[in-house]
Amino acid sequence: MHPITQELEQLQKDFSQEAQDIADMQAFDALRIKYMSKKGLVAEKFKVMATLSGEERPIIGKHLNQMKAFVQNRLDELRTSLSDAGEKSAKIDLTLPGNRPVIGRMHPLMKVLEEIKTIFREMGFSIETGPEVETDFYNFEALNIPADHPSRDMQDSFYLPGERVLRTHTSPVQIRTMQKVQPPVRMIAPGRCFRRDTPDATHSPMFQQIEGLVVDEGVSMADLKGVLLAAMRKLLGEHIQIRFRPSFFPFTEPSAEYDITCSSCFGSGCRVCKQTGWLEISGAGMVDPAVFGFVDYDAEKYTGYAFGMGLERIAMIKYNIDDLRIFYENDVRFLTQF
Ligand code: DAH
Repeated sequence: MHPITQELEQLQKDFSQEAQDIADMQAFDALRIKYMSKKGLVAEKFKVMATLSGEERPIIGKHLNQMKAFVQNRLDELRTSLSDAGEKSAKIDLTLPGNRPVIGRMHPLMKVLEEIKTIFREMGFSIETGPEVETDFYNFEALNIPADHPSRDMQDSFYLPGERVLRTHTSPVQIRTMQKVQPPVRMIAPGRCFRRDTPDATHSPMFQQIEGLVVDEGVSMADLKGVLLAAMRKLLGEHIQIRFRPSFFPFTEPSAEYDITCSSCFGSGCRVCKQTGWLEISGAGMVDPAVFGFVDYDAEKYTGYAFGMGLERIAMIKYNIDDLRIFYENDVRFLTQF
Protein backbone atom coordinates (compact mmCIF):
# COMPACT_ATOMS: atom_id res chain seq x y z
CA MET A 1 0.00 0.00 0.00
CA HIS A 2 1.28 3.42 -0.96
CA PRO A 3 2.08 5.51 2.14
CA ILE A 4 -0.18 8.30 0.84
CA THR A 5 -3.23 6.14 1.62
CA GLN A 6 -2.49 6.29 5.30
CA GLU A 7 -1.72 10.00 5.11
CA LEU A 8 -5.12 10.63 3.57
CA GLU A 9 -6.84 8.72 6.34
CA GLN A 10 -4.93 10.72 8.93
CA LEU A 11 -5.87 13.99 7.21
CA GLN A 12 -9.55 13.08 7.26
CA LYS A 13 -9.35 12.22 10.95
CA ASP A 14 -7.57 15.48 11.79
CA PHE A 15 -10.01 17.48 9.76
CA SER A 16 -13.06 15.82 11.36
CA GLN A 17 -11.62 16.45 14.78
CA GLU A 18 -11.04 20.14 14.08
CA ALA A 19 -14.43 20.58 12.41
CA GLN A 20 -16.15 19.41 15.60
CA ASP A 21 -14.91 22.41 17.53
CA ILE A 22 -16.01 25.06 15.02
CA ALA A 23 -18.54 27.39 16.66
CA ASP A 24 -18.55 30.55 14.58
CA MET A 25 -17.93 31.84 11.07
CA GLN A 26 -14.46 33.11 11.87
CA ALA A 27 -13.25 29.70 12.97
CA PHE A 28 -15.01 28.16 10.00
CA ASP A 29 -13.12 30.39 7.54
CA ALA A 30 -9.81 29.56 9.16
CA LEU A 31 -10.53 25.85 8.83
CA ARG A 32 -11.68 26.22 5.23
CA ILE A 33 -8.51 28.11 4.28
CA LYS A 34 -6.27 25.66 6.11
CA TYR A 35 -7.68 22.70 4.16
CA MET A 36 -9.22 23.91 0.93
CA SER A 37 -7.29 26.99 -0.23
CA LYS A 38 -4.93 26.72 -3.23
CA LYS A 39 -2.00 25.97 -0.97
CA GLY A 40 -4.00 24.18 1.69
CA LEU A 41 -3.54 20.69 3.10
CA VAL A 42 -5.83 19.06 0.53
CA ALA A 43 -4.06 20.60 -2.46
CA GLU A 44 -0.77 19.59 -0.86
CA LYS A 45 -1.72 15.91 -1.00
CA PHE A 46 -2.56 16.14 -4.70
CA LYS A 47 1.12 16.82 -5.44
CA VAL A 48 1.81 13.12 -4.98
CA MET A 49 0.17 12.47 -8.37
CA ALA A 50 3.31 13.58 -10.19
CA THR A 51 5.31 10.83 -8.50
CA LEU A 52 2.96 7.92 -9.25
CA SER A 53 3.28 5.09 -11.70
CA GLY A 54 0.66 4.52 -14.40
CA GLU A 55 -0.96 1.70 -12.34
CA GLU A 56 -1.08 3.64 -9.10
CA ARG A 57 -2.41 6.85 -10.62
CA PRO A 58 -6.14 5.91 -11.06
CA ILE A 59 -6.31 4.23 -7.63
CA ILE A 60 -4.62 6.99 -5.66
CA GLY A 61 -6.40 9.61 -7.77
CA LYS A 62 -9.71 8.14 -6.69
CA HIS A 63 -8.71 8.22 -3.01
CA LEU A 64 -7.60 11.81 -3.34
CA ASN A 65 -10.90 12.85 -4.89
CA GLN A 66 -12.88 11.02 -2.21
CA MET A 67 -10.89 12.77 0.49
CA LYS A 68 -11.47 16.16 -1.14
CA ALA A 69 -15.21 15.53 -1.51
CA PHE A 70 -15.39 14.46 2.13
CA VAL A 71 -13.77 17.68 3.32
CA GLN A 72 -15.92 19.81 1.01
CA ASN A 73 -19.19 18.15 2.14
CA ARG A 74 -18.39 18.56 5.78
CA LEU A 75 -17.51 22.21 5.21
CA ASP A 76 -20.80 22.80 3.37
CA GLU A 77 -22.77 21.24 6.23
CA LEU A 78 -20.93 23.31 8.77
CA ARG A 79 -21.55 26.54 6.86
CA THR A 80 -25.29 25.85 6.66
CA SER A 81 -25.69 25.04 10.33
CA LEU A 82 -23.62 28.04 11.39
CA SER A 83 -25.63 30.48 9.26
CA ASP A 84 -28.97 29.00 10.41
CA ALA A 85 -27.96 29.46 14.00
CA GLY A 86 -26.82 32.98 13.22
CA GLU A 87 -30.15 33.93 11.72
CA LYS A 88 -32.13 32.45 14.55
CA SER A 89 -30.15 34.16 17.24
CA ALA A 90 -30.53 37.47 15.37
CA LYS A 91 -34.33 37.05 15.21
CA ILE A 92 -35.05 36.03 18.78
CA ASP A 93 -34.56 38.89 21.18
CA LEU A 94 -35.20 37.34 24.56
CA THR A 95 -35.38 40.76 26.22
CA LEU A 96 -38.52 41.75 24.28
CA PRO A 97 -41.81 41.54 26.21
CA GLY A 98 -44.08 38.67 25.15
CA ASN A 99 -47.22 39.13 23.06
CA ARG A 100 -50.09 39.74 25.43
CA PRO A 101 -53.34 38.09 24.34
CA VAL A 102 -56.00 40.73 23.69
CA ILE A 103 -58.74 40.33 26.28
CA GLY A 104 -62.26 41.42 25.42
CA ARG A 105 -64.11 43.82 27.66
CA MET A 106 -67.61 45.06 28.28
CA HIS A 107 -69.05 47.65 25.92
CA PRO A 108 -69.48 51.03 27.67
CA LEU A 109 -73.26 50.90 27.11
CA MET A 110 -73.45 47.46 28.72
CA LYS A 111 -71.32 48.69 31.63
CA VAL A 112 -73.70 51.55 32.32
CA LEU A 113 -76.69 49.26 31.86
CA GLU A 114 -75.29 46.78 34.39
CA GLU A 115 -74.82 49.62 36.88
CA ILE A 116 -78.36 50.86 36.34
CA LYS A 117 -79.78 47.36 36.75
CA THR A 118 -77.86 46.90 40.00
CA ILE A 119 -79.07 50.24 41.36
CA PHE A 120 -82.72 49.41 40.67
CA ARG A 121 -82.40 45.81 41.83
CA GLU A 122 -81.14 47.13 45.15
CA MET A 123 -84.28 49.28 45.39
CA GLY A 124 -86.47 46.20 44.91
CA PHE A 125 -87.20 46.46 41.19
CA SER A 126 -87.47 43.36 38.99
CA ILE A 127 -85.98 43.31 35.51
CA GLU A 128 -88.42 42.58 32.71
CA THR A 129 -87.99 42.17 28.96
CA GLY A 130 -90.28 42.27 25.97
CA PRO A 131 -90.04 41.66 22.22
CA GLU A 132 -88.42 44.14 19.83
CA VAL A 133 -91.07 43.35 17.23
CA GLU A 134 -94.31 44.57 18.77
CA THR A 135 -97.95 44.73 17.86
CA ASP A 136 -99.84 47.98 17.43
CA PHE A 137 -101.73 47.13 20.62
CA TYR A 138 -98.71 47.02 22.94
CA ASN A 139 -96.64 49.73 21.31
CA PHE A 140 -99.48 52.26 20.93
CA GLU A 141 -103.06 51.38 21.74
CA ALA A 142 -102.75 50.06 25.29
CA LEU A 143 -100.51 53.02 26.08
CA ASN A 144 -103.42 55.26 25.24
CA ILE A 145 -101.67 56.58 22.13
CA PRO A 146 -104.50 57.68 19.81
CA ALA A 147 -104.74 56.66 16.16
CA ASP A 148 -103.78 60.11 14.93
CA HIS A 149 -100.72 60.46 17.20
CA PRO A 150 -97.59 61.49 15.20
CA SER A 151 -95.50 58.59 16.60
CA ARG A 152 -97.82 56.23 14.70
CA ASP A 153 -96.90 57.88 11.42
CA MET A 154 -95.03 55.77 8.83
CA GLN A 155 -92.44 58.54 8.84
CA ASP A 156 -91.61 57.94 12.50
CA SER A 157 -91.90 54.18 12.99
CA PHE A 158 -90.63 51.09 11.21
CA TYR A 159 -93.63 48.97 10.25
CA LEU A 160 -93.47 45.30 9.36
CA PRO A 161 -96.03 43.21 7.48
CA GLY A 162 -98.98 42.02 9.57
CA GLU A 163 -99.62 45.16 11.65
CA ARG A 164 -96.38 44.75 13.45
CA VAL A 165 -93.89 47.47 14.31
CA LEU A 166 -90.34 47.63 15.65
CA ARG A 167 -91.04 48.99 19.12
CA THR A 168 -90.44 52.74 19.26
CA HIS A 169 -89.94 52.72 23.04
CA THR A 170 -89.74 50.26 25.94
CA SER A 171 -93.12 51.36 27.33
CA PRO A 172 -94.95 48.31 25.84
CA VAL A 173 -93.14 46.19 28.46
CA GLN A 174 -95.22 48.05 31.08
CA ILE A 175 -98.36 46.62 29.51
CA ARG A 176 -96.95 43.12 29.09
CA THR A 177 -95.83 43.06 32.73
CA MET A 178 -99.15 44.35 34.09
CA GLN A 179 -100.97 41.66 32.10
CA LYS A 180 -98.77 39.04 33.74
CA VAL A 181 -98.81 40.12 37.40
CA GLN A 182 -101.09 41.83 39.88
CA PRO A 183 -99.91 44.83 41.92
CA PRO A 184 -97.61 45.59 43.58
CA VAL A 185 -95.43 46.04 40.47
CA ARG A 186 -91.91 47.37 40.69
CA MET A 187 -89.99 46.83 37.47
CA ILE A 188 -87.51 48.21 35.01
CA ALA A 189 -87.25 47.04 31.39
CA PRO A 190 -84.12 47.76 29.39
CA GLY A 191 -84.09 47.18 25.65
CA ARG A 192 -83.50 48.27 22.09
CA CYS A 193 -85.88 50.66 20.38
CA PHE A 194 -86.18 51.80 16.79
CA ARG A 195 -87.26 55.01 15.09
CA ARG A 196 -86.90 56.46 11.64
CA ASP A 197 -84.28 58.99 12.67
CA THR A 198 -81.36 60.12 10.55
CA PRO A 199 -78.20 59.37 12.53
CA ASP A 200 -76.45 62.40 14.00
CA ALA A 201 -74.59 63.22 17.21
CA THR A 202 -77.71 62.66 19.35
CA HIS A 203 -79.94 60.39 17.20
CA SER A 204 -79.69 56.84 16.00
CA PRO A 205 -82.39 54.71 14.34
CA MET A 206 -81.59 52.04 16.94
CA PHE A 207 -81.13 53.17 20.53
CA GLN A 208 -81.74 51.81 24.00
CA GLN A 209 -84.12 52.76 26.75
CA ILE A 210 -84.76 51.69 30.27
CA GLU A 211 -88.41 51.77 31.25
CA GLY A 212 -89.55 51.98 34.83
CA LEU A 213 -92.97 51.21 36.36
CA VAL A 214 -94.24 51.07 39.92
CA VAL A 215 -97.89 50.31 40.73
CA ASP A 216 -99.24 49.95 44.24
CA GLU A 217 -101.68 51.50 46.66
CA GLY A 218 -100.82 55.08 47.55
CA VAL A 219 -97.95 55.58 45.09
CA SER A 220 -97.28 59.28 44.44
CA MET A 221 -95.31 61.64 42.26
CA ALA A 222 -93.04 62.30 45.26
CA ASP A 223 -92.05 58.61 45.23
CA LEU A 224 -91.22 58.94 41.54
CA LYS A 225 -89.01 61.93 42.12
CA GLY A 226 -87.32 60.31 45.10
CA VAL A 227 -86.50 57.12 43.22
CA LEU A 228 -85.16 58.97 40.17
CA LEU A 229 -83.04 61.24 42.35
CA ALA A 230 -81.60 58.29 44.30
CA ALA A 231 -80.82 56.38 41.08
CA MET A 232 -79.17 59.34 39.36
CA ARG A 233 -77.06 60.16 42.41
CA LYS A 234 -75.81 56.59 42.69
CA LEU A 235 -75.01 56.52 39.00
CA LEU A 236 -73.50 59.97 38.48
CA GLY A 237 -72.61 61.38 41.90
CA GLU A 238 -74.12 62.81 45.07
CA HIS A 239 -74.03 66.36 43.73
CA ILE A 240 -76.82 65.58 41.23
CA GLN A 241 -80.10 67.48 41.55
CA ILE A 242 -83.22 66.63 39.61
CA ARG A 243 -85.94 68.88 38.24
CA PHE A 244 -89.32 68.14 36.67
CA ARG A 245 -90.87 70.22 33.90
CA PRO A 246 -94.54 69.85 32.95
CA SER A 247 -94.97 67.84 29.75
CA PHE A 248 -97.37 65.51 28.00
CA PHE A 249 -97.40 61.77 27.31
CA PRO A 250 -100.61 59.92 26.43
CA PHE A 251 -99.88 57.19 28.99
CA THR A 252 -99.19 59.43 32.01
CA GLU A 253 -101.21 62.11 33.77
CA PRO A 254 -99.70 64.33 34.98
CA SER A 255 -96.58 64.02 32.82
CA ALA A 256 -93.17 65.52 33.25
CA GLU A 257 -89.81 65.69 31.59
CA TYR A 258 -86.92 65.44 33.99
CA ASP A 259 -83.51 67.05 33.91
CA ILE A 260 -80.40 66.51 36.03
CA THR A 261 -77.58 68.84 37.06
CA CYS A 262 -75.13 69.31 34.17
CA SER A 263 -72.20 66.98 34.75
CA SER A 264 -69.75 69.28 32.94
CA CYS A 265 -70.31 72.53 34.88
CA PHE A 266 -72.12 71.19 37.97
CA GLY A 267 -75.01 73.53 37.24
CA SER A 268 -73.29 76.86 36.67
CA GLY A 269 -73.95 76.89 32.93
CA CYS A 270 -71.68 75.83 30.06
CA ARG A 271 -71.62 74.88 26.39
CA VAL A 272 -72.75 71.27 27.07
CA CYS A 273 -75.97 72.35 28.85
CA LYS A 274 -76.43 75.43 26.64
CA GLN A 275 -75.87 77.66 29.69
CA THR A 276 -78.93 76.26 31.51
CA GLY A 277 -77.07 74.18 34.10
CA TRP A 278 -79.41 71.22 33.33
CA LEU A 279 -79.34 68.18 31.06
CA GLU A 280 -82.57 66.62 29.79
CA ILE A 281 -82.92 62.91 30.50
CA SER A 282 -86.39 61.68 29.51
CA GLY A 283 -90.05 61.60 30.44
CA ALA A 284 -91.99 60.37 33.46
CA GLY A 285 -95.35 60.72 35.14
CA MET A 286 -98.25 59.09 36.95
CA VAL A 287 -99.79 56.19 35.02
CA ASP A 288 -102.93 57.39 33.24
CA PRO A 289 -106.00 55.50 34.59
CA ALA A 290 -106.92 54.78 30.96
CA VAL A 291 -103.82 52.53 30.75
CA PHE A 292 -104.99 50.57 33.82
CA GLY A 293 -108.23 50.03 31.91
CA PHE A 294 -106.35 48.10 29.20
CA VAL A 295 -104.85 45.66 31.73
CA ASP A 296 -107.83 45.39 34.08
CA TYR A 297 -106.18 47.04 37.06
CA ASP A 298 -108.53 48.81 39.47
CA ALA A 299 -107.76 52.50 38.93
CA GLU A 300 -109.73 53.39 42.06
CA LYS A 301 -107.50 51.24 44.21
CA TYR A 302 -104.09 51.60 42.61
CA THR A 303 -101.89 54.43 41.43
CA GLY A 304 -98.56 54.13 39.65
CA TYR A 305 -95.68 56.03 38.23
CA ALA A 306 -93.60 55.37 35.14
CA PHE A 307 -90.41 56.75 33.69
CA GLY A 308 -88.11 56.37 30.71
CA MET A 309 -84.34 56.74 30.37
CA GLY A 310 -82.13 56.85 27.30
CA LEU A 311 -79.17 54.54 27.85
CA GLU A 312 -76.92 56.26 25.28
CA ARG A 313 -77.83 59.65 26.73
CA ILE A 314 -76.83 58.59 30.23
CA ALA A 315 -73.62 56.92 29.03
CA MET A 316 -72.73 60.10 27.12
CA ILE A 317 -73.19 62.15 30.30
CA LYS A 318 -71.30 59.66 32.46
CA TYR A 319 -68.31 59.37 30.14
CA ASN A 320 -68.39 62.87 28.65
CA ILE A 321 -69.00 61.71 25.08
CA ASP A 322 -70.42 64.22 22.62
CA ASP A 323 -71.44 61.92 19.74
CA LEU A 324 -73.49 58.77 20.31
CA ARG A 325 -72.55 57.24 16.94
CA ILE A 326 -69.19 56.29 18.44
CA PHE A 327 -70.95 53.65 20.57
CA TYR A 328 -71.87 51.72 17.44
CA GLU A 329 -68.74 52.07 15.34
CA ASN A 330 -66.83 49.30 17.16
CA ASP A 331 -63.57 51.19 17.03
CA VAL A 332 -61.28 49.32 19.44
CA ARG A 333 -59.35 52.52 20.21
CA PHE A 334 -62.58 53.80 21.76
CA LEU A 335 -63.81 50.53 23.26
CA THR A 336 -60.54 49.70 25.06
CA GLN A 337 -60.80 52.89 27.12
CA PHE A 338 -63.55 51.40 29.28
N1 DAH B 1 -91.80 56.28 26.10
C1 DAH B 1 -91.33 57.64 26.16
C2 DAH B 1 -90.42 57.92 24.97
O1 DAH B 1 -90.01 57.03 24.33
C3 DAH B 1 -90.53 57.88 27.40
C4 DAH B 1 -91.41 57.86 28.60
C5 DAH B 1 -92.08 58.98 29.03
C6 DAH B 1 -91.57 56.69 29.29
C7 DAH B 1 -92.87 58.99 30.11
C8 DAH B 1 -92.39 56.65 30.41
C9 DAH B 1 -93.06 57.83 30.81
O2 DAH B 1 -92.59 55.56 31.12
O3 DAH B 1 -93.84 57.81 31.91
O4 DAH B 1 -90.14 59.05 24.72
